[in-house]
Amino acid sequence: MTGKPRVWISRPTFPDVVARLEPHFEVAAEPEETVFSGAGLTAKLAGCDAAIVGLKEHVGAAEVAGAARLRIVANLAVGYDNLDLAALTAAGILASNTADVLNESVADYTWALLLGAARRMGEAERWLRAGHWHGTEFRAWLGLDTRGRTLGILGMGRIGQAIARRAAGFGMQVAYHNRSRLPPAIEGACAARYVDKPTLLAESDFLVLAVPLTAESRHAIGAPELAQMKLTAVLVNIARGGVVDDAALAAALGEGRLAAAGLDVFEGEPGVHPALRALDNVILSPHIASATWDTRRAMTAMAVDNVLALFGHGPHAGRPPSLLNPEVLALRPAP
Ligand code: GLV
Repeated sequence: MTGKPRVWISRPTFPDVVARLEPHFEVAAEPEETVFSGAGLTAKLAGCDAAIVGLKEHVGAAEVAGAARLRIVANLAVGYDNLDLAALTAAGILASNTADVLNESVADYTWALLLGAARRMGEAERWLRAGHWHGTEFRAWLGLDTRGRTLGILGMGRIGQAIARRAAGFGMQVAYHNRSRLPPAIEGACAARYVDKPTLLAESDFLVLAVPLTAESRHAIGAPELAQMKLTAVLVNIARGGVVDDAALAAALGEGRLAAAGLDVFEGEPGVHPALRALDNVILSPHIASATWDTRRAMTAMAVDNVLALFGHGPHAGRPPSLLNPEVLALRPAP
């Protein structure tokens, strides 16, 4: 290779964090938020040795077809349903995510949504801003308590566990369902009880979704599952749009078959189902569960570390810290 390898960063991040790349790479960082797709994305990837991309970039076989130099796609997210891992692996390209650094911020935000939905905070704020508050009514704005209730968690990875650990502070019991049951030590640390999915649906007063989006988890919560939940239940989705059938959810909320919902992710986002937008008993936010200064900086640092490490630099030299397809290294050794 002549000259420095080239890194493309698809979106504005934190200049002082990505500056760590500069001694070793030629860095091309996009100055503005742009959605790169199709030929535009293919052209960006074609000339680089490493790419740091976000959820808006869908990278698969077509996008990397002309990217002969590309060695790693570092995702600025823990979820990676925007990457076709099989296609990247087949092309000898590594992929990485930002595992773990966002767990606590996402768990905090999940509780904000849960409590906001239970205590009707979005609805109350809209009402106040609209100038409707002319006197306090004793029986107005009644919401739901958490203490003594059951928190159900579908998807008990590290984020699900961080959400569960906070439940004791709210006096809640935790039930969870996961593809595989967790070891007793983790169940103990989370004070969480394993149940099958029908039991989780039936017993949860608050059901939080923390599963990755896969073919298996698509519409894990649709009309049949909503019909198994309590009429007083609150649903919180911080996982991915697509895990919930948003049309079915809007129908259930609108018809009083579910009390409320807190949603940070949507099918087809940034589009939001119009029926959800029209409902008062749902809090909507624009996919911001990991959006704190510290965490977004840590996510950027992790993507940078993955790239640096592959090329033999930085604190993890030779061992990129969060590879999704490490088997590629055996087939195509690090440069
Ligand atoms: C955000 O949704 C992420 O996967 O990091």
